Amino acid sequence: MSAIDRPVTIADVLARTTGYLEGKGVENARLDTELILSQALGLPRIELYTQHDRPLTEAELATARPLVERRGRREPLAYVLGEWGFRKLMLKVDSNVLVPRPETEIVVERCLALIRELESPVVLDIGTGSGPIALSIVSEHPGARVVATDISEGALAVARENAERCGVADRVELVRGHLTAHVHGAFDLVVSNPPYVPPGDWDSLQPEIRLYEPREAVVGVGQTAAVARRALPLLVPGSWLVLEVGDGQAQEVADELGSLGYADVRITPDLAGRERVVEGRWA
Ligand SMILES: C[S@@+](CC[C@H](N)C(=O)[O-])C[C@H]1O[C@@H](n2cnc3c(N)ncnc32)[C@H](O)[C@@H]1O
Repeated sequence: MSAIDRPVTIADVLARTTGYLEGKGVENARLDTELILSQALGLPRIELYTQHDRPLTEAELATARPLVERRGRREPLAYVLGEWGFRKLMLKVDSNVLVPRPETEIVVERCLALIRELESPVVLDIGTGSGPIALSIVSEHPGARVVATDISEGALAVARENAERCGVADRVELVRGHLTAHVHGAFDLVVSNPPYVPPGDWDSLQPEIRLYEPREAVVGVGQTAAVARRALPLLVPGSWLVLEVGDGQAQEVADELGSLGYADVRITPDLAGRERVVEGRWA
C-alpha cells in the first residue's frame, strides 16, 4: 500500500489537526487536538499515544471533523467539548455562560477559608454563570447552602443542570434578577465574580472571548462597586464579601470596600501573581 492510500492513523490525525489549528492561530494547538480527539474517540488521552498507529474509521473521522472545525473557527475549547473542569467538578458549559477560569478557583479558595469554621454557612453568589463558585462551595463544604443569582435565564439553566449533575441541587437556590434583586435574608458570605472588563478593551480580546462568550458576562462598568454596596444589607456583622477583580483593579476596589465600612480588607494574588481577589469583613 502506498503512503497515499494507507489508512489514516491516530498519529496522522494528531499531527494534521495540530498543524491545522496552529494555522488558525490557536494557542495550545497540540493539547486542544488531543482533548478533542480523546472526546471524539471516547479514549483517555494517554491512549492516543498507546494506540497511535491504529487506523481511524470513517465514523470516527466524521465525529472528530466538526469539532476540529469549530475550534478552527476559534470557538472556545470548553464550548466545543461541552464541559470544563473547575476545581473538583466537571461542569457543563455552553455559549450562555462564561467559561470558568482558573483564577476563579482562588476566589473559591478564599471563600472556603473564611467559612471553614462555620457548621452551616449561608452564602450568596452574585452572577453565578455555570455555577463554578456556588457549586464548588457546596461540594467542598458539606454544611454550606448557597443562593446563586444571575440576570441571564440561559446561564441559570446551565447552573441548574450543573447543580443536578454534581448532586448538590438540594443545597443551591437559583434566583433570576439584577444583582441582589429578589434575594432576602442574611448571609455569612457574599461572593461575586462580576463582569469587570472595561468596554474599551472588548475589541482587543482574543476571538474566543469576543466572538463567542456572552458580552454581558465579560464587560461591566461599576458592577464590582455595585455588588459591594448591594451586599451590605444582606451581611451580618462579622460576615464576609469576596470579589474577583480585573487586572489593575484590586487597589481601587480595596479602597472602595474600606470607604464603605468593610474591615480587614485583603488582596490575594492568583497563580500568575496578579492581584485577583479582594475581600472584606462587615464589621
Ligand atoms: C464574569 S461572569 C462569572 C460567572 C461565574 N460566576 C464564574 O465565575 O465563572 C459574570 C456573570 O454575571 C452575570 N451578570 C451580569 N450582569 C448581571 C447583573 N446585573 N445581575 C446579575 N448577574 C449579572 C452574567 O450573566 C454572568 O453569568
